[in-house]
Amino acid sequence: MSHVIVCARRDVARITHILKRHRSQAAVIFDEITSPHEELPHVKPYNAIPGPKPIPILGNTWRLLPIIGQYDVSDVARLSYIIHKDYGKIARLSGLVGRPDLLFVYDADEIEKIYRQEGPTPFRPSMPCLVKYKSEIRKDFFGRLPGVVGVMQEMMDDNNDMPADFDNEIHKWALECIGVVSLDTRLGCLDPNLSPNSEPQKIIDAAKYALRNIAILELKFPFWRYFPTTIWKNYVKNMDYFVKICTKYVDEAMDRLQKKKISSDNDLSLVERILANEPDKKTAYVLALDLILVGIDTISMAICSILYQLATRPEQQRKMYEELKRLIPDPNTPLTAKLLDEMVFVKAFIKEVFRMYSTVIGNGRTLQHDAIIQGYHVPKGVQLVFPTLVTGQMEEYVSKPDEFLPERWLKSEDENYKMHPFASLPYGYGARMCLGRRFADLEIQVLLAKLIRSYNLEYHHEPLEYKVTFMYAPHGELKLRMNRRSE
Ligand code: HEM
Repeated sequence: MSHVIVCARRDVARITHILKRHRSQAAVIFDEITSPHEELPHVKPYNAIPGPKPIPILGNTWRLLPIIGQYDVSDVARLSYIIHKDYGKIARLSGLVGRPDLLFVYDADEIEKIYRQEGPTPFRPSMPCLVKYKSEIRKDFFGRLPGVVGVMQEMMDDNNDMPADFDNEIHKWALECIGVVSLDTRLGCLDPNLSPNSEPQKIIDAAKYALRNIAILELKFPFWRYFPTTIWKNYVKNMDYFVKICTKYVDEAMDRLQKKKISSDNDLSLVERILANEPDKKTAYVLALDLILVGIDTISMAICSILYQLATRPEQQRKMYEELKRLIPDPNTPLTAKLLDEMVFVKAFIKEVFRMYSTVIGNGRTLQHDAIIQGYHVPKGVQLVFPTLVTGQMEEYVSKPDEFLPERWLKSEDENYKMHPFASLPYGYGARMCLGRRFADLEIQVLLAKLIRSYNLEYHHEPLEYKVTFMYAPHGELKLRMNRRSE
């Protein structure tokens, strides 16, 4: 874990910069566009962009309403494939209640252009429910800060099967890891005998509901914008609990820091470093909260997805095991940065899972200036969506896109696989790229190295379908079987 924190330290400068910068500052996306489309005859008007037609009053939001809408919330991933199939490389979803148009861009060259030309402060649309919580409900607390956003063995039954709610256990583990990084503490979430009223259990529950409710708040009709619905009240209650926990542990870190003898920066944890550089404790509270909110579901859902893929792909799992056995002949050897770096197949497997089943199905940017995209004039303020799940599987950008081939990521392979560098970007790109990327990659690699070196994973049940709850992951009971390897 200490290695993880050392890695995260490199990001401290970026973290403090992010907290201070004014995010809404304009970023020039396309400076060649300064005049409206009427003056550029070859440019087609915005209204000509194809897309599902909005109906009066309900606009396009009804499409996400259960029963009457064609699409269920959990079908958002399918929706991004359907939009591409029906409308092509650019499509407009307009008339969404309470939010600007969404413009889906499926052209990796255009995505590259937009990312590369964005300024130092690109703007990614925030989740409206989080914005409302921070800027209205708990305005006093958040003020003007923008924010940045060996137990497995005990769980097996006599057949070596993991419990049906195994994803919950992964969740607890992700929470414990993020607690070390963002709160400088062991939260105790992995204790097998937690009482319902214990702090770790309450944190686990708050994390589960705070995050799962977001998909419903964001994607269904936003009644909560107009009156406090039950789900909104629960969301606020859970967020309040998180704020309380973050405040408590950051205060404790501050007390420790004041008593600590420091000879170099290496004596400080990530939280202590932020506190040492930033006199306002609130910065560390907000940072801790944001890291926890984004760091739990992303990583735990990614792990569930990767383990499911391994369990259902025995040949690829065997290759991973061969690599691990070669690099770590003694399974008890401590993992070093060098060893992890040499695990090329492990890294390629992770990338391939992200290409075909990207945990975050797409990324976004709010256009800061008018732009020409795919020959259309797009006005500033429009929210661009880059559906990496779809672009990562387009034949035009990726060879054999429907085949699961970790080998495509290995440079030494004889076969030259085509891969557009902007087609599969599971962590986003540029100045707003995922801040937890190194931490997430490292956590996943360490887990796979330890698990697959010593256990063979199997799955003997009905295939699981991938769906979006908050993240894109296999939906249903993840009943993996873990058989201990003999060598
Ligand atoms: C597999 C796990 C993860 C995936 C797939 C993922 C993906 C993403 C993506 C797509 C973005 C948007 C990037 C952009 O706009 O270009 C993002 C932003 C972010 N992620 Fe992650 N993430 C993961 C894990 C984590 C973890 C564990 C943490 C915390 C330790 C974290 C912290 C953040 C933060 C703070 C941002 C906002 C950065 C900014 O706005 O400057 N992420 N992540």
